[in-house]
Amino acid sequence: RAAGPPPGDRGRPRVVAHRGASAEEPEHTLAAYTRAYSHGVDGIECDVRLTADHHLVCVHDRRVDRTSNGNGVISTLELARLEELDWASWKELDDGSSKEDADVDPERGRLLTLRRLLDSLVAQHEPLLTLIETKHPTRYGGLVERQLVTVLRDLGLTSGDLPQLPHVRVMSFSILALMRMRGLAPQVPLVYLVEASAPRFSWDGSLPRGVNIIGLDVRIVRRTPSVVRAHQRRGHEVYVWTVNEPDDVRRCADLGVDVIISDRPGDVLGLLG
Ligand code: G3P
Ligand code: CA
Repeated sequence: RAAGPPPGDRGRPRVVAHRGASAEEPEHTLAAYTRAYSHGVDGIECDVRLTADHHLVCVHDRRVDRTSNGNGVISTLELARLEELDWASWKELDDGSSKEDADVDPERGRLLTLRRLLDSLVAQHEPLLTLIETKHPTRYGGLVERQLVTVLRDLGLTSGDLPQLPHVRVMSFSILALMRMRGLAPQVPLVYLVEASAPRFSWDGSLPRGVNIIGLDVRIVRRTPSVVRAHQRRGHEVYVWTVNEPDDVRRCADLGVDVIISDRPGDVLGLLG
């Protein structure tokens, strides 16, 4: 099994906030993660992308358009430009309020870099499970992974014996990206993400060499719940995303999955009791 608390040691799956408590607060902002802490989550998830000047920022989409007041492709914009944008008011507008009413508190709308997110986690003094997903993995010849390892090393998070944050995992849909991470930081456990439309090879319990955790699209678990047992039999941990519906929460708990990743971690914790 991968390092970290064993499944079931708290009597239920661990609950991870997907992009923070992203149903309640603008995803990937400090407000979303602070809300997640307030719910008492077991961990947090974030996506990372590379800026034009090679900083890792916590943004899901390739473009800034949906979650900021700017436009353009992250990888073509420098950090300083991205820092000028507001990353929160889109959510208020999304929730139905007018542009005039939108919260334009610059701190609330501040871009979250991976460094800043991890610094905030260390400040919480909690051993939160920290799931970092690398995006655009087949581009930039491994620069994303190298930058990620640099950040983790700078913060002392790859040594494995650190008190603050021993529970870092790196996740990807790309085997290539995972193998690069394996080469650069063999002590960091890896999560192979599988979406519903993916080839079925990992559904029988197989995983890329050196990977012990599967991250399953909840739609796979709905259609083929036996996939969970297939991985458990091989000693793999099973994480499921993005689990927002009560029926899916109960299904995951019944199947004994290790981690539930949700936009609504407070609701999930409430359901799991
Ligand atoms: O936790 C895995 C999940 O986040 C993968 O999908 O598109 O939300 O990054 P996505
Ligand atoms: Ca993600």
